[in-house]
Amino acid sequence: MPVLQVEDIQGILLYGYGDLRHATFLLLGIADPLGARTWLRTLNVQNGRFKRGEIDRAINVAFTSSGLARLGLPDELVAEFSTEFREGVAGTKHRQRLLGDSGESSPERWRWGGPNNQQPHVLLMLYGRDDGVLSVLLNEQRAQLTASGLELIEQLDTNWLPHDKEHFGFRDGVSRAGIEGLHSNTPPIDTIAAGEFVLGYLNAYGQYTQRPLLRDEQDPARLLPPAPDEPDQRDLGMNGSYMVFRQLSQDVARFWQFCEDQTRRRDGTTHPADQIRMASKMVGRWPGGAPLVKSPATDDPALGSDNDFLYHGSGDKHGLKCPIGAHIRRSNPRDSLEPDPGSERSIEVGKRHRIIRRGRAYGAPVAASMDIADILAVEDAPGERGLHFICFNTHINRQFEFIQHTWLNNPGFDGLYDDDDPIAGDRGSSHGKPAGTFTIQADPVRTRVTGMPRFVEVRGGGYFFLPGIRALRYLASLQP
Ligand code: HEM
Repeated sequence: MPVLQVEDIQGILLYGYGDLRHATFLLLGIADPLGARTWLRTLNVQNGRFKRGEIDRAINVAFTSSGLARLGLPDELVAEFSTEFREGVAGTKHRQRLLGDSGESSPERWRWGGPNNQQPHVLLMLYGRDDGVLSVLLNEQRAQLTASGLELIEQLDTNWLPHDKEHFGFRDGVSRAGIEGLHSNTPPIDTIAAGEFVLGYLNAYGQYTQRPLLRDEQDPARLLPPAPDEPDQRDLGMNGSYMVFRQLSQDVARFWQFCEDQTRRRDGTTHPADQIRMASKMVGRWPGGAPLVKSPATDDPALGSDNDFLYHGSGDKHGLKCPIGAHIRRSNPRDSLEPDPGSERSIEVGKRHRIIRRGRAYGAPVAASMDIADILAVEDAPGERGLHFICFNTHINRQFEFIQHTWLNNPGFDGLYDDDDPIAGDRGSSHGKPAGTFTIQADPVRTRVTGMPRFVEVRGGGYFFLPGIRALRYLASLQP
């Protein structure tokens, strides 16, 4: 069992700050590298050693690869970070295609992080227990940033919705990947090797994921920890992680209109219960969080936080309870994967493609209560809303990109033919074949819903590196 150096790991990687529900993210450009390093030295970054309820604010910080270079990290060291990180989320046509970032979601149209935007160097994440604490933190930081030669490119505010919901009206943040050696109360299916999320520990293959290792003379002050696998080298990656950030806007009206159109009865009437059933089939959980696999007929408040289930092993091999193409079944197929679905081996394969989600909603909710009945009753809800999707992983290509490309966007996922993820799929653009179908398996006859539009569009994004605390000190002390 690994012992995690929690005091050297930034807090947001280990915990979602459920007590700090007010958050703002600042995208910054480094105009003056010397000023930025001085600012970084004084930044009070929250580490992972704190008890629930003990803190009322937190600061965490991450960098793009151009940000690391701008801080003064030599090119030969930047080059040792992973290719995906260095190229960036919108860096190549290949990656855009893979992620399905086309049409309205194409990086050329993004608000930040795209080829037509100023490239961010730093992502500063500010969290507070209430609005008052957050605004004090924000004002302090904004004053210091200006004085330190950091330009504010974009301020991304967030909004924690009632009952822990996302904007379509479903409870979010239920399923959590737990880190082996740290999160002791996650079920075994969700307990994942530390090295899948934190660099410098063994990953799901029993190996150390590649990261920049330095010779002694590159770290003369010995600020960095020794590499566990190469003790004569200093580890710049250790206790750090890669962070994927995608601003995803959600068209709530279109989502529920679609469910209404698809469930209209022959006599022309529509019934909220039918719409909610349809939407829950698309998600794989009921609005209150209960998994369809465990409660196929109705929502069940007692199961709102339940995460201890399989698909084959819970008697739903054919998707009769939770459709094969539902969002949660695609994004974590649990025991549905080849070889040998339903086996321990299948679960082990799935554990190579997990992420830790730390996103926050943004924008005003369509209905303040977040009850579906109230959401359905609203005629017009102007303004943009969505999810600042954030996840952590140590191998962006094998984890986040694999989930998006091979599971969410894939029309042929698990025996399907022209379906993609109803919530976060790209409607076929990445695989060059038509998608946008959603199949609800049933006995004797399945239902196929076709022509599904996109309900979620990408508005911005970036790949960041979230360093460990000692690595931050190293970066702040660079003397190029
Ligand atoms: C606006 C877009 C999205 C919305 C509204 C959304 C919503 C949800 C909801 C309601 C759940 C079920 C609650 C839970 O288990 O926490 C969920 C689970 C999940 N989502 Fe998303 N999601 C979105 C985008 C994404 C993307 C882009 C990915 C990955 C590329 C993703 C990966 C996951 C994963 C891994 C789970 C947990 C599945 C499990 O372990 O059972 N989601 N999402």
